[in-house]
Amino acid sequence: MKIAFLSSEAVPYAKTGGLADVAGSLPKALEHLGCEVKLFIPKYYLIDEEEFGLHYNWEIGEIPIKISNHTRSVHVYQSHLPGSNVEVNFIDCPHYFHRDQIYTDGFDEDERFILFNRGVIETLQRMKWAPDIIHCNDWQTGLTPLYLKENYAWDKLLESTASLFTIHNIGYQGRFSKESIKHAAIREDLFYPGGPVEYHGDFSFMKSGIMFSDIINAVSVTYAKEILTPEFGSGMEDSLIKRKDDLFGILNGVDYSEWDPQTDKFIPYHYSSNDLKNKIKIKQELLKKFNIKFDETVPLIGIVSRMVSQKGFDLVEEAANDLMRLNAQWIILGSGEDSYEEMFRNLQQAYPDKVALYIGFNNELSHLVEAASDIFLMPSLYEPCGLNQIYSLKYGTVPIVRKTGGLADTVINSNDNNSGTGFTFSEYSSNALIGSIKLAIVSFNKKDVWQKIQINGMAENFSWESSAKKYIGLYELAVKKRKNPNL
Ligand code: ADP
Ligand code: GLC
Repeated sequence: MKIAFLSSEAVPYAKTGGLADVAGSLPKALEHLGCEVKLFIPKYYLIDEEEFGLHYNWEIGEIPIKISNHTRSVHVYQSHLPGSNVEVNFIDCPHYFHRDQIYTDGFDEDERFILFNRGVIETLQRMKWAPDIIHCNDWQTGLTPLYLKENYAWDKLLESTASLFTIHNIGYQGRFSKESIKHAAIREDLFYPGGPVEYHGDFSFMKSGIMFSDIINAVSVTYAKEILTPEFGSGMEDSLIKRKDDLFGILNGVDYSEWDPQTDKFIPYHYSSNDLKNKIKIKQELLKKFNIKFDETVPLIGIVSRMVSQKGFDLVEEAANDLMRLNAQWIILGSGEDSYEEMFRNLQQAYPDKVALYIGFNNELSHLVEAASDIFLMPSLYEPCGLNQIYSLKYGTVPIVRKTGGLADTVINSNDNNSGTGFTFSEYSSNALIGSIKLAIVSFNKKDVWQKIQINGMAENFSWESSAKKYIGLYELAVKKRKNPNL
């Protein structure tokens, strides 16, 4: 099977969150299963050509693409995903992608990703490569399913190319003013109230992905059900209900070549479930760096996260006084909205002997926090899949999570179950959060109980293989649907 995999970010080139982890690892797993995969991402300014061995594709050369009233010059650079034959195609257009950040709140954010979607299709045309499936991910790639069926329907090359649209986060929808339809060169009669690209008077890339793709999936089974409800659908539930027979859930896998305490290249000592002594050494060293005193009876609670409301930090703020009275230490890594950064800064300043804080994006430190912490906290309001809790399981770092989306599908509550792997709470309230943390602290001090929970988690396997097989199943279904939409 031939797959074009489209993403706005991918490890190791450009990352803001879990989408990058998925785009950097699922294509490799698909290749292992015998697929031919080409990954497409924008060539952002921050991607180092030399470090990643990018070379310019002269055969493709210049692709002129008209957006709005300007013709932009697009070029393609190529490389391979490290450790694989997955070809990576970087869509180059300095006008749009040479910015300080991957995502911007600039006036032309729509144009940036219109260009990406069109750039990919026009690259496929010049390569004369017809994939069986174009796997689109999140709103930034939501126009491609529409383009295949509308703007590029004339092209015989892509006549039987199907599309799968994966929802990683329905909270981000690529919503722009009606004017943007013109930038995207979309037929104006597709825009009408309740129509396939219209959302409350605006143009939505996410809705286009949902309405025009052959098959849709979300990144966990629970989230795929949740987004059909007003509580989780962020307004897209009605569109999703229309397509509910074509909507599936596939849990993300993780790349254990990056995230395994036995081989992790960022941690100073390696360890496994047979011997956890080195985990404690890593904790001691990390605490020392942050000037916090090590005490083996005090658990270290880690957080690595984008600091946005999705992640449940309102609960942490509400509970802060109570949390600081608990016998626990904290290490927090993240960046995002000012109000949350400020809240954590205030906490750190008020409790410097028990709170370590790093505001920013730091990949190495994210691995160290996973390895050093005893507990990992993810009290998310909603969580499509979540990867850090899965990494935590592997690192013997017991997750405390709110039971929602992918968190509910990956963490087994140790209170109800001898094979438990963590602690879960259901109600989105500061009391429920505090209660769960207190239970974890009590268990932490019963060494045999704690080790059992750690070892249960470390024995779990969330590698990509089984999820990648499920994706191939959906690709096959999408190909059939493309041939016969009434199936
Ligand atoms: P989301 O995609 O919603 O941010 P996930 O749990 O799926 O949540 O994935 C987050 C990914 O981003 C993980 O790989 C995590 O380690 C990483 N990450 C988040 N914040 C930071 C940060 N400040 N520094 C380094 N890595 C981070
Ligand atoms: C999104 C979600 C997260 C998920 C990630 C990768 O960013 O917020 O839960 O793990 O995508 O699918």
